[in-house]
Amino acid sequence: MAKQKIAYTDHFAAVMNTLTSSGVLVGAYDAAGKGNLMTIGWGAIGSIWGLPAWIILVRPSRYTYRCIEHSGCFTVNVPTADMHMACAVCGSTSGRTRDKFADCKLTDEKAQTVLAPAVAEAAIIYECQVVHRNDVQPERLDGEIISGAYTAGDFHRLYYGKILAVRAEADAGDRLRSV
Ligand SMILES: Cc1cc2nc3c(=O)[nH]c(=O)nc-3n(C[C@H](O)[C@H](O)[C@H](O)COP(=O)(O)O)c2cc1C
Repeated sequence: MAKQKIAYTDHFAAVMNTLTSSGVLVGAYDAAGKGNLMTIGWGAIGSIWGLPAWIILVRPSRYTYRCIEHSGCFTVNVPTADMHMACAVCGSTSGRTRDKFADCKLTDEKAQTVLAPAVAEAAIIYECQVVHRNDVQPERLDGEIISGAYTAGDFHRLYYGKILAVRAEADAGDRLRSV
């Protein structure tokens, strides 16, 4: 089924529910042009500098970090409820050693506005151009968050991705996890 253009605010509650349950899939190409996918559970959709944006948090140890540093763009792919295995695989193996599109039998339909892979099987695809990045600064971060999320350091880099396009299946609302 062909995806249709939607507003970036559409399906907001269902997307947040998916983000905080199975996670969503961030796509980026590496320097050799191989598409990589990584599950994220933390992120935000909003309006910043007057732009629709996804803010994602990526630890420097992730291969995805290297991919986005190279490409300057990414996609956010919201999986359907039956794609939880793909989220588990993409959240526990690295594109350094694996081809996760092949491992998960997913199709890269390629983003239309940025040079990043997009998951054809996803319910919703956001295409994002990085307009800003900054690193979590431990000296400014709440101590409880540091002891909960950063026992091994590896402080996230935040990528602010201007949303250039959003596409969804017509029945995306039904195919996302119920809220
Ligand atoms: C549900 C879930 C949510 C995750 N959220 C994040 C996240 O927000 N940021 C991050 O850096 N890693 C997160 N991870 C870990 C990465 O997905 C994982 O380390 C992955 O194997 C990295 O792949 P890569 O090396 O190909 O980039 C999450 C993992 C899971 C299972």
